Amino acid sequence: MTEYEHISVLAREVIELLITEKKGTYVDATLGMGGHTARLLEALPQDASVLGIDWDPEMAGIAASRLERFGGRVKIAQGNFANIDEIVAREGIRSLSGALFDLGISSLHFDKPSRGFSLKHDGPLDMRINPDNPLTAYTIINQWPYEQIEHLIRVCGERHSGRITKAILAARRTRPLETTGELAALIEKVAPARGEKTHPATKTFLALRVSVNYEFDNLTRGIQKIMPLLKPGARMGIITFHSLEDRIVKETFRIMAKMGGWELVTTKPVKPSDEEVAANKRARSAKLRVIEKL
Ligand SMILES: C[S@@+](CC[C@H](N)C(=O)[O-])C[C@H]1O[C@@H](n2cnc3c(N)ncnc32)[C@H](O)[C@@H]1O
Repeated sequence: MTEYEHISVLAREVIELLITEKKGTYVDATLGMGGHTARLLEALPQDASVLGIDWDPEMAGIAASRLERFGGRVKIAQGNFANIDEIVAREGIRSLSGALFDLGISSLHFDKPSRGFSLKHDGPLDMRINPDNPLTAYTIINQWPYEQIEHLIRVCGERHSGRITKAILAARRTRPLETTGELAALIEKVAPARGEKTHPATKTFLALRVSVNYEFDNLTRGIQKIMPLLKPGARMGIITFHSLEDRIVKETFRIMAKMGGWELVTTKPVKPSDEEVAANKRARSAKLRVIEKL
């Protein structure tokens, strides 16, 4: 057991909507602490299995010990789901009975200060899902030019992108910004909260994380690579946590359905119930979309 917990979002809905075949191999492309994988394995008979993938080796290790009780029914691979075709081939799997993407990062990432994602706990400006990734938030904040930083923050919906970027560039002229706490305090000073429920640095932190981990690119590639691997009748379910990601999924699924060979299972995204949001604040922005291969 780790000291960190992650409550799986929309778990009941995932099971209800993703399982169409009670055999074969399902893929959990964002294994995390293995919550959804455990639920899938519990819902499936003994001869069905799950391949769980996580880009973060720490997470893959945690999931491995948490899922030990399932024995050979679960295989765990460390890697980027953007390369899901190679990962699946390496595991000797030819086709998939279903696939789940639960995007973003886990509660452990948010809560563990040393990973540098946290607004609440001071830590290094890191934000890498995979610590082998050469790009960090530190590099972006201390080395990228004004135009690039301002653009990435603006794209993630921050209306004070200009003001925030100017403050970052002014601060780094004296010395580099080192920690999440320093960056959050700087943003709070130039773009103070005006009754919003979230911290004024929330969108800047999201923009940095998405850029450090090229999350939009991974998502597009992951969907494309998994399409030929799914069997007819198999479903792909994707849970997103912000509107930019949801827009990519909505648009991609719409095009797939229009091209033919795919049918939308959810025409509107499935959202968590009030009870789920009350029990898990992180679920409040979750949206699940599902598509089926014909
Ligand atoms: C929201 S968490 C998943 C939680 C999981 N469904 C559970 O129930 O415990 C997302 C996970 O996806 C992983 N991840 C993010 N981007 C990834 C990528 N491109 N390839 C593989 N894993 C990725 C993160 O490291 C994180 O552990």
